[in-house]
Amino acid sequence: MDTTFALGLIVGAAAAAAVAWMSIKLRDEKAHARLQAVRGELYSARATLDEAALEHAAAEALVDRLPAPLYLVDGDLVVLRGNAAGASMIDKDITGRDFSEGFRQPELIDAITGVIETGEGASIRLEFPVPVERAYLISIAPIAPAAPGNGGLPRQAHDSAPAALIMMLDITLVLRTEQLRADFVANVSHELRTPLSSLIGFIETLRGPARDDLEAQDRFLGIMQEQADRMYRLIADLLSLSRIEMEEHSTPQDKVNLNDVIQKVIDGLTIKAMNRGMTVTMDMADRQMTVQGDEDQLTQVFQNLIDNALKYGEKQSEVKIAGVESGERVTISVRDHGAGIPREHLPRLTERFYRVDAARSRELGGTGLGLAIVKHIVNRHRGKLTVTSEPGDGSTFTISMPKWKE
Ligand SMILES: Nc1ncnc2c1ncn2[C@@H]1O[C@H](COP(=O)(O)OP(=O)(O)O)[C@@H](O)[C@H]1O
Ligand SMILES: [Mg+2]
Repeated sequence: MDTTFALGLIVGAAAAAAVAWMSIKLRDEKAHARLQAVRGELYSARATLDEAALEHAAAEALVDRLPAPLYLVDGDLVVLRGNAAGASMIDKDITGRDFSEGFRQPELIDAITGVIETGEGASIRLEFPVPVERAYLISIAPIAPAAPGNGGLPRQAHDSAPAALIMMLDITLVLRTEQLRADFVANVSHELRTPLSSLIGFIETLRGPARDDLEAQDRFLGIMQEQADRMYRLIADLLSLSRIEMEEHSTPQDKVNLNDVIQKVIDGLTIKAMNRGMTVTMDMADRQMTVQGDEDQLTQVFQNLIDNALKYGEKQSEVKIAGVESGERVTISVRDHGAGIPREHLPRLTERFYRVDAARSRELGGTGLGLAIVKHIVNRHRGKLTVTSEPGDGSTFTISMPKWKE
């Protein structure tokens, strides 16, 4: 074999090996690229799945945390899904069971059936008397049969596709507020109408039968003045109440010495106390009690409480005002010795126009708004009003509020 031939053979073999190696490498790279691509797809599929799972969890959390009870039922009124508020409303979970196992009201069942049959939404108002009376506005929305999944076929009997969404809105508070407003207007009108009719009656008498009766005129004018004063007091109290309510959420800023405030109120009521043979004493444990407040409003508070104690306390009895400091708070109590207040009335005393004995309150010149005003002022001062009473032995009205901080 000559050298040239041998060299050619070697070069040829080397070239063949190189080609083979290159083609193997090329195949490898292709496979690698494919693998990468598949891996990438896998990753993005997994990310999509993760995202879907997250979205699902978010939707679940949203539905579950929704404060309004929510139910999804199928065409047979079997519950497919309910949220936590729905379960706690009836105190059980009725998922997978008949909707009527949780809600027996025939109006509600009929309404849902109607919505599923007609495909038109509806809403009804329902009262649930137990365990506490609540009113709900219930909206029922139809869910159209899923056309693609169902091949556009009409809904089958026992089809477990969602058919209606039932959402319940608790409107108890709205109705109560509405009722309060209506009662308030009725009360104000009634309170104003009584003295006004009396005024009109006396004016007629003065212009007619009593035209020439000087003595009667004098007496009637006295009564008219009383009635007019009563209307004035009522309007003044109403205005004061609405002003206090408006600023109830702004904390008063001034430094107020309660000893001075109470002393001024007592001084102003001396004649009233003397007329009934009563005494008012103040014991502030030798301290000057200061709070962060609004002096005029705090004056109104004690004016009202001490005035009540003088009105409803026994003649010749004593009204005691006592103040103590404990920790961060100041506590002032106004105690009288009167007929007291029967226990069942205590929780309602601070409602506007609420009186234990309405005739007696009117006779004593009361508007029935005093304690409502007291409560709102005390709230504004971040304080607390408590009432205790021993029928036959008198009542104690106690106010506690934060001390002034230097
Ligand atoms: N110290 C008290 N003793 C007994 N009853 C009281 C006392 N304070 C208030 N009340 C009762 O609470 C009702 C509401 O008080 P208030 O709002 O001050 O109205 P008013 O004094 O104008 O009647 C009074 O009508 C009375 O029945
Ligand atoms: Mg009063």
